[in-house]
Amino acid sequence: MKIIVTKSDLRSIATDLLVLPFSSVELKKEAGKTLDAIGIDQQVLKDFKAEAGEVVVLYGGTGGYSAPRFALLGIGEGKTIEEWRKAAISFASKAVDLKIEKVAVDCSCIETLSAVSGQSVATMAATLVEGCFVGSYRFDRLKSGKLDKKGSGEKLKKIAELLVVVDSSVFEEVERGVAGGKIVGSCKKMARDLVNLPGNFLHAVDIAKAAEESGKKYGYEVTVFHKKEIEALGMGGLLAVNKGSDHPPTFTVLDYKPKGKTNVVVALVGKAVTFDSGGISIKPSENMGEMKSDMSGAASVLGAVEAAARLGLPVHVIGLIPATDNMPSGTATQPGDVITTYSGITVEVSNTDAEGRLILADALTYAKEKYNPDVIVDVATLTGACIVALGYPVAALFSNNDTLADKIFRAGEQSGEKVWRMPLWDLYDEQIKSDVADLNNTGGRGAGSITAAKFLEKFIDGHENWAHIDIAGPSFTPKGAGKVNGGTGFGVGLLVELLKKWS
Ligand code: BES
Ligand code: MN
Ligand code: ZN
Repeated sequence: MKIIVTKSDLRSIATDLLVLPFSSVELKKEAGKTLDAIGIDQQVLKDFKAEAGEVVVLYGGTGGYSAPRFALLGIGEGKTIEEWRKAAISFASKAVDLKIEKVAVDCSCIETLSAVSGQSVATMAATLVEGCFVGSYRFDRLKSGKLDKKGSGEKLKKIAELLVVVDSSVFEEVERGVAGGKIVGSCKKMARDLVNLPGNFLHAVDIAKAAEESGKKYGYEVTVFHKKEIEALGMGGLLAVNKGSDHPPTFTVLDYKPKGKTNVVVALVGKAVTFDSGGISIKPSENMGEMKSDMSGAASVLGAVEAAARLGLPVHVIGLIPATDNMPSGTATQPGDVITTYSGITVEVSNTDAEGRLILADALTYAKEKYNPDVIVDVATLTGACIVALGYPVAALFSNNDTLADKIFRAGEQSGEKVWRMPLWDLYDEQIKSDVADLNNTGGRGAGSITAAKFLEKFIDGHENWAHIDIAGPSFTPKGAGKVNGGTGFGVGLLVELLKKWS
């Protein structure tokens, strides 16, 4: 998507769709005048209420504008960044539905909105661009188009050009925001593509390759440990999950060091189970295909490290991605087996479907031992119980540090990726005790997300600034639940906002 910031006059702009944002407050004062200017009947204002994300497309203006179509875009009261983001997503999605390639947005309101919402003009511009990436995203890589009706057989059109029309007073700041928004937007897109790729297109080696490509392109170091090296290291958790698979595991380490001095080292650990069948404790068939998204944590980590590198954030970021699929076979780990993790801690695998914590355990221990980072954050589609507790839109946050928890909460508010904190009280330890090993990988019926987090906590070796984010709900929109289903890229924006807090 080409994005151009311009000071041109709205009337003369060559575009397929001119988007006109209105807040519900402005609507009464301004909308009538605007419609008169573009030469469109005011009747539409009987229905258009300017709710955040509301779009009405209008045709046939007689006011001498170059644009053949106009969209009234609601931004609600215009008081929050959330309303602005929702509006951006909404018009971009509409443009794709209408197969429109060139869109212009009247952003003469951006300075006022910035003042009202308390967000900088650059942030408003970045959010507009990110929203445009999000709203125009469609996963069509695996569609051949061969069965489309004759004549309509062209490949899906996506927005090719976005014009951001601004007043000269904010031109530079908007340009700065747009540049940042483009980076975060494209990193979110990369993460979504990885999540949407099915298991037969994305094995552990492919995750490693995606990281290597990104590292080469954006100038950060990527090291991949293959099966032999993982064995030599003794990563018994990752190997146990991989045991039933025909595809070898990988453990990828991404290392972005900023050019200048930095005081903070942040480790981001992402779960990459490229397909989770449950293993011998096999899952029910219904919707099992959604478990291609069980590498969403890793996708967010990869997206965030790439964004940090491209934005040049002054933080040393290390991404750690243990990757494998989880399959049943004659060689698979069996329920009741006892394994030894990289830390030396032994685990009774009561349920082979609680595999995420086994691979994360090794990666967490490795992160702490090798880098002794100031902060460790892991992101994982860890438990179905998380969806029971918080539903699809919200992630669960666990942390042994109140300051870090608060930072993550606020990062999520800013990025629009909501997290809600849950407890890590030691009283839950009882549930993950084993008769035969140091730990059991399942904690019984109650508090499934918490016992999973308590399990992970055992592998950070006393680190005092750790957080775990369970994204089982918001990482993937199941069929029918939303307009655009599939991978969401949840976590990329949140992690970028979090990393900015140490800038
Ligand atoms: N990947 C799943 C969790 C999950 C479920 C993510 C639904 C997204 C949507 C995880 O590996 C898993 O299977 N967890 C088990 C744990 C249980 C066996 C203790 C679960 O949640 O059922
Ligand atoms: Mn599982
Ligand atoms: Zn899983």
